[in-house]
This record gives sequence, C-alpha cells and structure tokens, in this order.
Amino acid sequence: MAERLDKVISNTTLQSRTVCKALIRNGAVSVNGVPVKTPEFHVDTGKDTIAVNGEPLSPRRFFYIMMNKPRGYLSTTEDRYERTVLDLLPGEYGKCGLSPAGRLDRDTEGFLLLTNDGETAHRLMSPKHHAEKTYFVRVAGMLTDEHVRAIAQGLRIDGYTCLPAELKIVQKGENSEAFLTIREGKFHQIKRMMYFCGCEVTYLCRMSIAGVQLDPALAPGAWRFLTDAEERAVRDAGKR
Ligand code: URA
Repeated sequence: MAERLDKVISNTTLQSRTVCKALIRNGAVSVNGVPVKTPEFHVDTGKDTIAVNGEPLSPRRFFYIMMNKPRGYLSTTEDRYERTVLDLLPGEYGKCGLSPAGRLDRDTEGFLLLTNDGETAHRLMSPKHHAEKTYFVRVAGMLTDEHVRAIAQGLRIDGYTCLPAELKIVQKGENSEAFLTIREGKFHQIKRMMYFCGCEVTYLCRMSIAGVQLDPALAPGAWRFLTDAEERAVRDAGKR
C-alpha cells in the first residue's frame, strides 16, 4: 500500500513528522537509491527501499522510553475519565503498542518504563526474576535501624513474606526519608511496607529500575528514549 514518505519514516523511527519532513527536505532520504526531497512522495513499503543518511530504513521492533511520571496520571494505556501516561507522549506512539512495564500509583512520581517489548516488560514485573527497583520515600513517622533489619530479613505482611529488601535511611527522626530497594512489585508494596513500620508514605518516587537511574534532567512529565547501554540493562534484567 502506498503511503506518504514522511509518515512511513515517522512510524518506523518514532521521530516526529516535523523532524522527518526536515530530513527529507534536507536531502537525507533516498527511495530506491534516488534522493527524494518531497515529504508527500508516496512509497510502497512492500516494494521500495528507503534509506536515511545512506542507512536502509529497518523497522525497529522495540522502543524503550524513560518517563518521569508526574503525580495525577494513571500508569495505564487508556481510561475513560482520567489522564494516563500515554497522554504525555505524541499521539502516534499509541499506535506502536507502548505500555508501562509495571505500575506506579496515581500519586507516585518517577521512573516509568514504557515499551512495546512484552517479554522484557514481563521480566521486569515478575517477582520470579527479581529485577531491582529503588524508590525514594518520605514518610510521616520515624524509620529506625530496627526497620532496616526487619526489611532486610523480609517483612511478613498480611500472611505474605516479602523478599529481603534494602532500606537506607537518609533522614532520621519524624518525617524520615529513605531509599528502599525491592525485587518484587506487589500492589502498593512500598506503602504497605512503610505502614507495617508504623509510617505513612507522604511522597514516593521511583529512582531506578534494574540499575538504570532516573535521568535527573527529566522534569515530572518529561521523557526520553533509553540509551543503548540502558536498553541492554533493562533487557538483561532478571536473566542472570
Ligand atoms: N509501591 C507503592 O506502594 N506504590 C507505588 O506506586 C509503587 C510501589
């Protein structure tokens, strides 16, 4: 089926239409070896060979996006009433099957990985694979070394024994602050662990997934693609 050249490049690379039009107008694109400078030019992806900067356009199967999820958004792909994290991405991204690899509560901020790589998403979410996630947590209440020890051993909550986790207290006293690293992701896990410690979570932000740190340059609501090294880290998470 014939489609506009700029649309084909945009859908394949997830670059915006504006960027793709500029690439074409600047002479970076050829079709069957012949430079084409008109974005409206129609191509048949079944037959034509498109190249960008001399590299054949090969459909990339998987995309990995790091988003700093803001408060007030649901970690789902659609909802009839509420804003979802997909609303923070350009519309065309919805078409390539991106969805969040794991959920953050509506009031939680931080690193949300969006991908169309279902196998990696499954491994990151599955408690069997033990991919590490680190959260920064502020609580109403006081965290103590006793909590550090109990969490390291595996808290028993509502008949379930959590996997051993690491609590690093960075601010002692009332309104304690800490980093908490867990290897599973049960429903409201951090809030329930803190509740068990006699504390109520007042702020929660996921700082890393499988050793990949949330980019401090990303303000809440902003996003970027993972670098190649970050992609490797999330794809390899839980395989060892
Ligand atoms: N644990 C929670 O309680 N909430 C989150 O959003 C993530 C982990």
